[in-house]
Amino acid sequence: MNTQTSHGITPRRSPDFGLDGDIPKYWLGGDPFKTRFFDAMSLLFPEGEKFFIVCVRDYRNQITDPVLQAQVKDFIYQEGQHGMVHTQFNDRVKAQGIDVDKVLQKQKSIMFGFFRKHFSRAFTLGQTAAAEHLTALMAHGFFSDGLMKDADPRIRAMYAWHAVEEIEHKAVAYDVLTKVAKANYFTRILSFMLVTFTFPFHVFMIMRHMFRVDGVKNRPLVWLKGLWWLYGWGGLYPKLIPHYLAYFLPFFHPWKFGEMDIYQQWIAEFERHRGDAIAAGNAIVAAAA
Ligand SMILES: [Fe+2]
Ligand SMILES: [Fe+2]
Repeated sequence: MNTQTSHGITPRRSPDFGLDGDIPKYWLGGDPFKTRFFDAMSLLFPEGEKFFIVCVRDYRNQITDPVLQAQVKDFIYQEGQHGMVHTQFNDRVKAQGIDVDKVLQKQKSIMFGFFRKHFSRAFTLGQTAAAEHLTALMAHGFFSDGLMKDADPRIRAMYAWHAVEEIEHKAVAYDVLTKVAKANYFTRILSFMLVTFTFPFHVFMIMRHMFRVDGVKNRPLVWLKGLWWLYGWGGLYPKLIPHYLAYFLPFFHPWKFGEMDIYQQWIAEFERHRGDAIAAGNAIVAAAA
């Protein structure tokens, strides 16, 4: 249930999505590419969110604004909850034969063994703010065009909840980066460009492994169709380009961009259904149809 706070972020205990239930392997319209695209992102979330928390924590003691302090606290709580739920989800993927442990180990060594070792604290916070912009971008965009219409209601509910919380805390890392770490434009943009390329690259590498394990037939065709679905005319990403590019503006701030209809609908439905995330997820998809 919601307890709206004055600083705009609500620390909710993660709802029960029924992820231990009998969920079809290809839960997004029976489509291997679309399903594995979201599954691959899910694999990256728990370690990624740990990285975000660590990078924001670097500056926690330097924050003098009590509102930002409270927002950081709830940001950490929300990302912690996301990590727990996605770990539960990832256990399902592991049971399907995907080498989740190996993927996570590799991701960990890149983020903590490489980036945290060789880059400045401001730069890794820049990577965090950049990743938060990309997740907020997807959160604003993925629920507005019926993409989740054919999804299993339980996983749809999980992604809707995650999307809503990503929107809620979308400015936290950015505010710490610009107001506390006082990172310059160069650091902000360079770290953003790096994340722009590394994030999809990792997602596609994980999907490649998943398709092999799944024994997906006609893989080149599956990739072609899938990449067109993502990047082609009317695809998922081209619609998000203006919002994506806004990050390059010197006066960019996360709260200046992204429409809030889906967010407000979810909050209202979640409250109306007394914390039933599946009902809230169903309602926002029905409203977008
Ligand atoms: Fe998250
Ligand atoms: Fe986040």
